[in-house]
Amino acid sequence: MIRLERMHCLVTGGAGFIGSNLVDRLLARGCRVRVLDNLSNGKIANLSHHFADPNFAFSQGSITDPGDVEQALKDIQVVFHLACLGVRHSLAHPFENHRVNAEGTLLLLAAARRAKVTRFVHCSSSEVYGSAQYVPMAENHPTQPCTVYGASKLAGEAYARAYHRAYGLPTVIIRPFNTYGPRSHHEGDAGEMIPKSIVRALNGKEILVFGDGSQTRDFTFVEDTAAGLMAAAECEAMNGLTLNLGCNFEISIKELAEKLVAMVGNAATTLQFTPARPGDVSRLHADPSAFMGLCGWRPAITFEAGLEKTIAYFREHPLGPTGLLQGEAGRNW
Ligand SMILES: NC(=O)c1ccc[n+]([C@@H]2O[C@H](COP(=O)([O-])OP(=O)(O)OC[C@H]3O[C@@H](n4cnc5c(N)ncnc54)[C@H](O)[C@@H]3O)[C@@H](O)[C@H]2O)c1
Repeated sequence: MIRLERMHCLVTGGAGFIGSNLVDRLLARGCRVRVLDNLSNGKIANLSHHFADPNFAFSQGSITDPGDVEQALKDIQVVFHLACLGVRHSLAHPFENHRVNAEGTLLLLAAARRAKVTRFVHCSSSEVYGSAQYVPMAENHPTQPCTVYGASKLAGEAYARAYHRAYGLPTVIIRPFNTYGPRSHHEGDAGEMIPKSIVRALNGKEILVFGDGSQTRDFTFVEDTAAGLMAAAECEAMNGLTLNLGCNFEISIKELAEKLVAMVGNAATTLQFTPARPGDVSRLHADPSAFMGLCGWRPAITFEAGLEKTIAYFREHPLGPTGLLQGEAGRNW
C-alpha cells in the first residue's frame, strides 16, 4: 500500500469545488501539497486558509501550458488530476473544453511520466457513460457520452489508460458520479442543481427543474469523494484500473427539488418546470462495488446529512442570500 503521509502531491484544479476539499484532507494527512489552477472557475478563497502553511503551495497556471505543467510537476510523487472545464461550458465552447479536458490531460500525463511519479490519479466523470442503459452501472457499461464534456473526459481517461499500457505510468482512473457539498458552484455556467436550488430557495425564489424532473442522479458528498480519490492513490491493486465512485442510489431531480424546498424551509419556494437542457443525461446510478471491494471505501455521510451541511454552508456564506443570487444565472448554458 502507498502511504500518502509526507508524500508531495500535485492537485490540478485544486482551487475548485472537489479539488479544494481534497487539498484540505491531504494537508490534514500530513502531505505536502502543490496546487496548479488557472482560477478560471476555481476560487482563491477556497484555499486562502492554507496560505500560511509551509506544506502548501499555489501555482497559478494552466494544464495546457507546457512550462506551467513542467514546473508544477517538479519533485512531485502523486498527481491528483482534477482540472477541467465543465459540462455546460462545453455546450457553448466545445473546442476550448476539449483542449483543457483532453489535450491538457495528455500534456500532464507526458510530464508525469518524465517526472517518474509514484501515482497518477485521474479524476474522470460518470458523464463518460451518457444515459444509463441499465442500472446500476458498472465500469463495463457502454460509454456513449451525450456532451463534448463527457466525450473530452472519456478522451482524457483513454490517454491515461494508454500511458499506463504503453509506458507503465502508475495510473488509476476514477469516475465520480455527481458530487455535492460546501464550495459547490451556484454561479454562472458552473452552477449545479443542488447549490443553485439552495441559493434560490434561500431567497424565496422558485427552483428551476429542467425537463420534467424524472432524470435521476447518484449523489456523493464532497468529503466522501475526496476520501475516495485518496483511497485510490493509496491502493496498489488499483494500478491501471478504471473504477466508479458513487453511492449506489438514485434520486429524481423533481424529488430532490421537493426535498430541498422542505429542508430550506421557505414556504414561498415553488418548483418551475422549464425546457430540458441539451445533452442532459436522463439516468445515472453507480455500481461502485469494484472500488469498494478493492479499498474498503464507504460513504461516511448520508444524503440528508450532506444536504444539511450544504444548506448550512450557503446560509452562512459571507455574500448572504441576495449576494449569492446575483451570481446565479437561472438558465445557465
Ligand atoms: N462536481 C461533480 O459533480 C463531478 C462529478 C464527476 C466528476 N467530476 C470531476 O471532478 C473534477 C473537479 O470538478 P469540480 O466539480 O471540482 O469542478 P471545478 O470547476 O470546481 O474545478 C475545476 C478546477 O479546474 C480549474 N481549471 C480549469 N481549467 C484549467 C486549466 N486550463 N488549468 C488549470 N486549472 C484549470 C478551475 O479553475 C477549477 O478550479 C473534474 O475533473 C470533474 O470532471 C466532478
